[in-house]
Amino acid sequence: MKWTKFLLTTLSICCINVLIAQGLGIIPEPYLSTKGNGVYTLPKTISISAPTSANAIAETISNQLKLTTGKTVNFSKTEPTIELSIIKDDVIGDEGYLLNVNDKGIQVKANTNAGLFYGWQTVQQLLPAAIYSKTVSKNTNWQLSHCSIIDKPRFGWRGMMLDVSRHFFSKADVKVFIDDMVRYKYNRFHWHLTDDQGWRIEIKSLPRLTSVGAWRAERKGKWMNITTPALDEPKTYGGFYTQEDIKEVVAYAKARFVEVIPEIDVPGHSMAMLAAYPNLSTTPNYPYQVNAGDEFMDWEGLNGHATARIDNSLDPSNEEVYTVLDKVMAEVAPLFPFEYIHMGGDENAKNNWEKSSNVQALMKREGLKDQMEVQSYFVRRMQKIINSKGKKMMGWNEILQGGLSGDAAVMSWQGIKGGIEAAKQGHKVVMSPNDYNYIDYYQGEITAEGKVYRGLRMKTTYGFDPVPSGIDATLILGNQANQWTEQLQTIRNVQYMNWPRGLAVAETSWSPNEKKDWNNFTKKVEKHFDYFDAANVKYAKSIYDAIVTTELNTKGELILKMEGEVDNLRFYYTIDDQMPDNFSDEYTKPFVLPSDVTLVRIQSYRDGKPIGKLLNIPIESLRNRAKKVL
Ligand code: ACM
Repeated sequence: MKWTKFLLTTLSICCINVLIAQGLGIIPEPYLSTKGNGVYTLPKTISISAPTSANAIAETISNQLKLTTGKTVNFSKTEPTIELSIIKDDVIGDEGYLLNVNDKGIQVKANTNAGLFYGWQTVQQLLPAAIYSKTVSKNTNWQLSHCSIIDKPRFGWRGMMLDVSRHFFSKADVKVFIDDMVRYKYNRFHWHLTDDQGWRIEIKSLPRLTSVGAWRAERKGKWMNITTPALDEPKTYGGFYTQEDIKEVVAYAKARFVEVIPEIDVPGHSMAMLAAYPNLSTTPNYPYQVNAGDEFMDWEGLNGHATARIDNSLDPSNEEVYTVLDKVMAEVAPLFPFEYIHMGGDENAKNNWEKSSNVQALMKREGLKDQMEVQSYFVRRMQKIINSKGKKMMGWNEILQGGLSGDAAVMSWQGIKGGIEAAKQGHKVVMSPNDYNYIDYYQGEITAEGKVYRGLRMKTTYGFDPVPSGIDATLILGNQANQWTEQLQTIRNVQYMNWPRGLAVAETSWSPNEKKDWNNFTKKVEKHFDYFDAANVKYAKSIYDAIVTTELNTKGELILKMEGEVDNLRFYYTIDDQMPDNFSDEYTKPFVLPSDVTLVRIQSYRDGKPIGKLLNIPIESLRNRAKKVL
């Protein structure tokens, strides 16, 4: 303990600013780190020393080193190459670690196995990218820089959400998602298990939830254009996790120090449940089926409130709804050891509740003055059910509507407003604002990415601070990235959307705010592209693509502007339909596009080499994005 405190003081006084510049390339940036002058080379025979309680981690390290270095790895306490120790230290907490690399080898110390695990994640990032591959790289120079690191997370909740309803992802896919998360010290996997387009968790007492609710008509193509299936169309697309599958994934996550938060999204987003049990809606005679696409919703709806053309909400006035939800939670709760169950609560369209005489009777009976209070009534009933199973409730920020009580925690997605309001009421909060952390939004030039309803550049994501001023910071549990999968049918495409923006969220979630530095971060990100390549992780290189904006001048001419998201890019373009190279016109300042131009092509270059995508931007898109008059 004394040793840590001494190092802490010394490092923090003399080194913080130098350290960022020196760069060990670690993401998320450690709490404190210093790079030494020497390097350590892994010997021919690697020995690992670990306390018995850390055997599983030592085994993981051994397997990875054998697989990638091809060296002999054994376990030995004498002069170990890698020494893992459990210590007692009051600085680094439950997840922190101390790491030293010197002439003797690699020493990782922590209070817990989680800390040792995170120390190992950092060690891998100090090694060549081949450490992430699945094959032996005999020609790699297995060296790492001498260094000294004291590390611990800013937040205890470092989450990533995967929506498995809009598209189903196999158990193996989910494990890949978790593997990718833990390299960057994420520790919460939020599993969005139910939605309008599929119910994905086996509930033995309610078999129709999966025999009917997990299946829909197969559709390929763009989500936004998907046609509503005919009722008698075969329901061949879908899938679900058996309770054994769930246990396997939860154990897999636990072995990697990840807690799993299940989400059962009610009372809205419940079309799949209603396809199985239509009597739970206010329109029980409607011929329900699990939807493909979401044509039936108007998300902006009336006065900005979601409106459902087909009722996809549970009926809050029907006692059978609460009986069913009690059965669901009775089976869900024991499968997930974590303290919270997420009940959704978002985007519940109330237009069908408004029309229901039963809901009106409920309002009268319970003294509920509007639909917000009806939502609050439902949420309180849900909270009781979840609490009765020994769990705490979490929900999207809409659970605040009409009042929230008890130990419910709020996940703020419609910006940070809900998070602030919840914290002011004393509720715990996880920040996952769409403006920063929705990593399903397209991440580069709109015409060069898969179409989503909104875009989000990594620079914006990186700029987020989860602790707003004026609230009790201890109520902010942490930060989370959300991956919705309307347009993502494979885990490869999920990875493309996750990375590299997931690196930005990881750094915001783990690193001290004052250690965040965009320019340094982007340099590190480029190093991690090599790691993604070695690990076969698909990722986006959109940071190299020009940010192209337009404005109309007073003459109605289109003025085109290009900016770089990262440093040292040069943009070469053509407006005559020809392919650009670095002898084409180079962008230097905003210019008026001649009126006959129909297409602008842009290629980024760095150090004389093309980098990123060739952008082909039609004039209509450039006109659409012109908003302001100069
Ligand atoms: C959400 O994005 N509807 C939580």
